[in-house]
Amino acid sequence: MLYSEKVMDHFMNPRNVGEIEDPDGVGTVGNIKCGDIMKVYLKITDNGVVEDAKFKTFGCGAAVATSSMATEMIKGKTVGDALQITNKAVMEALDGLPPIKVHCSCLAEEALHAALWDYAQKNHIVIEGLREPVNDVSEHEELYAH
Ligand code: FES
Repeated sequence: MLYSEKVMDHFMNPRNVGEIEDPDGVGTVGNIKCGDIMKVYLKITDNGVVEDAKFKTFGCGAAVATSSMATEMIKGKTVGDALQITNKAVMEALDGLPPIKVHCSCLAEEALHAALWDYAQKNHIVIEGLREPVNDVSEHEELYAH
């Protein structure tokens, strides 16, 4: 079996699909190489805790599964701790992805980071360790844990 049971579950029954009205942070990224696009919405409390996260994707099954898991993992975290939700952490939580699909988990991570960046910009705060998002994730690929 190419995909773990957890990946299949999050692909078949994705959590947190949709939009958040009036989000505190929103981020959209794409990957020019595969043509996939991901948009993440965040609701963040006044004391900087992620209350809700949703995503919409024009992406492959692995992008759906990793975004489903990543949005589950980020809920309840402070915006600082949210940075610990790396593509590697998400892949581990899903019991792995085939090597050829690792880049799909980067799309989820970058979209989350882009939404956090948007939140930080709007609130004039700096989230330590967060770097400015790029529109095309494939530019960042070498930075990711594989
Ligand atoms: Fe593009 Fe998976 S093939 S995100």
